[in-house]
Amino acid sequence: MTQPNGKLWSGRFSQKTDVSVEAFTSSIDIDKRLYAFDIEGSVAHCKMLAKTSIISDDDAFQLIEGLGRIKRNIEHNEFEFDDSLEDIHMHIEHALLQDVGKVALKLHTSRSRNDQVALDVRMYLRDAVRFIIERLVAMQKVLVSLAKQHIDVILPGYTHLQRAQPILLAHHLMAYYEMFDRDIERFKDNLKRINVMPLGSAALAGTTYPIDQKYTAELLGFPKITSNSLDAVSDRDFIVEFLAGASLCMTHFSRLSEELVLWSATEFGFIEIDDAFATGSSIMPQKKNPDVPELVRGKTGRVFGDLMGMLTLLKGLPLSYNRDMQEDKELLFNSTDTLNACIEVYTQLLPGIKFNATTMRQAASAGCLDATDMADYLVGKGMAFRDAHHCVGNAVSYALQHKKELYELTLDELHSFSDRIEKDIYNILSLKQMIERRTSYGGTATANVMAAIKVAEEKLAGETKQ
Ligand code: ARG
Repeated sequence: MTQPNGKLWSGRFSQKTDVSVEAFTSSIDIDKRLYAFDIEGSVAHCKMLAKTSIISDDDAFQLIEGLGRIKRNIEHNEFEFDDSLEDIHMHIEHALLQDVGKVALKLHTSRSRNDQVALDVRMYLRDAVRFIIERLVAMQKVLVSLAKQHIDVILPGYTHLQRAQPILLAHHLMAYYEMFDRDIERFKDNLKRINVMPLGSAALAGTTYPIDQKYTAELLGFPKITSNSLDAVSDRDFIVEFLAGASLCMTHFSRLSEELVLWSATEFGFIEIDDAFATGSSIMPQKKNPDVPELVRGKTGRVFGDLMGMLTLLKGLPLSYNRDMQEDKELLFNSTDTLNACIEVYTQLLPGIKFNATTMRQAASAGCLDATDMADYLVGKGMAFRDAHHCVGNAVSYALQHKKELYELTLDELHSFSDRIEKDIYNILSLKQMIERRTSYGGTATANVMAAIKVAEEKLAGETKQ
C-alpha cells in the first residue's frame, strides 16, 4: 500500500501531481452529490464479489459496514472533501481505506471508475426523472383543476397574436396539459434507456473475474444490463435524451410564461398574478411585475445550453471513456435543478391566478371573431365556402367602417351582402353557439372540453397510484 504521491493510482508515477492540475481536474464540488448512489453501487458490488467468492464474506461485511459509516459521515457533514482526491469515487474509496484498512483495497476488484461513474449517473438520473414525472403530474393536476373551475370562461383564441375565434379558457389550459403529458411520456421513454446497468464493463473491455452482473443489476433494481462494455463506458445518450426532453418541457413552460406575461399586461388585462408571486419596481410605485414567469422564460436558455453543451461534448470523442465526459454532470445537474425549480414554482403560482372573465369575454366579443361562423352559416345555406368567405369579408369591412360587430348589423344591412341571410343568423353569431358548435374531436365545445378533463383526471389518478 505504498502511495508516494498519496493517490490510489500512483503506482506508475514518480512525481507528485501539480497543485494547479489537481484543482483543474477535480470534480468533487460537482459530483459529491452522487455520494449516495456511489455507496449504494459499491455495496451491491461488494455483495456480488462475495456471492461469486471473488472476495470473502468477511471482507464484504467489513467493506459494507465501512461504506455505511462513510455515508453517515457525509450526511452529518463530518466528511472532508479535498481537491487532491479528484472525485467522489476516490473520496469514498480513500475514506474507506482509512476506516477499514487494507481490505478497502479489494473494493475496486473487477471495477473501474469508468463503469462506476456510468452507474452513478444512471442511478442519479433514474431517480431525478422519476421525481420530475411525479412533480409534473402534481402540476398538471393544478392545471386541470383550474380548467374545471373556469369551465364557463370564454376568451379569444389567437393566431399570429390576432384575435381569431372564441374558445374556452379551459380549452386553452388543457392545451398545456397536453404538452406536459407528452413531456411525461418522453421522460418515461427516456427511463427505459437510463435504467440499464453498466457495471462489469470495467475500464472498457469487460473483466476477467467471474462476476455476476445479473445479481448486481437485481440488487440495484435495474431490469437490463448493458450489452457492450465499450459502449457502456462511453454512452451518455441517455443524458442527451433527458436534456432534449427537459428542453422541450422548458419550452412549454416558457410559452405558458410568455402568455402569463402578456395576459397580465394592462393591454390584455386577462389575469392578475397573486401578490405573493409578483414583485414591485424600485422606482415606479404603480408597477406589479410578473417576475416569476419571466424568470422561467429566461431559465429556459440554460437548459438549451446544457443540451448543446452535452452534444458538443460528445461529438468528437473516440471510444471509449475520455475525461471530457466528466463535464457531463455540471450540465445535467444544472438542468435537473432548473427544471425542478420551474415545475415547483408553477405548481405554487397557478392556483393563485385571478382570471378576469369579464375582460376576456369582452375581448372575445370584439373584432368580428364570428366571421368564420357567418361563413359557415352561408355554406349551410348552399353557398360555396370560398364565396362565403368573400361575402363575409365584405361584411367585416363594412362593420369595421361603421365601428360595429357583425352581430350588431341589422338584417337589412346583412341582406346587402347576401339574401340568403335570415334571422336565425343572430343565434349562430352568439358567443355561446360559437363555442358549443365546435364539437369536432379535440374542439372547444364545453362537452368536449369536459370529456378531455375527465380523461386527464383519470390518467393523472392512475399516475399517482403507480
Ligand atoms: N470523475 C470522472 C468522471 O466523472 C470519473 C471517471 C474517471 N475515470 C478515469 N479514467 N479518469 O468522468
